[in-house]
Amino acid sequence: MFSRVIVAIDFSEISKKQIECVNKLKEAGCTEAVLVSVIEEPTLEESVEVCEFEDEDFNLCIKDVEEKLKKNREKKLEKLAENLHVNYKIDVRFGKPFKEIISSAKENDASLIIMGSHGRGKIEELLVGSVTENVIRHSHIPVLVVK
Ligand SMILES: Nc1ncnc2c1ncn2[C@@H]1O[C@H](COP(=O)(O)OP(=O)(O)OP(=O)(O)O)[C@@H](O)[C@H]1O
Ligand SMILES: [Mg+2]
Repeated sequence: MFSRVIVAIDFSEISKKQIECVNKLKEAGCTEAVLVSVIEEPTLEESVEVCEFEDEDFNLCIKDVEEKLKKNREKKLEKLAENLHVNYKIDVRFGKPFKEIISSAKENDASLIIMGSHGRGKIEELLVGSVTENVIRHSHIPVLVVK
């Protein structure tokens, strides 16, 4: 039923639990996980600041920074995936997390999205974080929230 699942990773405490959840879903027919991590605008903005006083072409510098950020995320996802017991794919994107998570689910023809209840944010009083809330709101496929 849930053969290909999307796992939205922000490298908070719950990320490891999400990986464990995929391993458990193997018994329910899960054969492939797509680990999605989205680099948000503020992170990008802070990083491209280093290009401000660069001699080389500004746009080239930004491209270079973006590529490095992406590579770095990919490496971190690979590390996390060492504990996965199903096949996996890595999908690092730039943009608004909830939108990119949903786009990835569509493009990969996934049947389930696995979110953490909370992420790296500091406000714990909310039932779920804003990214998870928006994914639940806009997704057309089931969403599993790990806590
Ligand atoms: N940049 C991201 N890329 C991929 N998944 C993400 C990203 N940010 C959040 N998530 C997913 O959303 C889950 C909940 O995080 P969310 O950001 O909604 O809560 P929060 O950080 O506690 O609060 P908020 O961001 O609203 O201040 C995470 O466990 C993760 O599954
Ligand atoms: Mg967050």
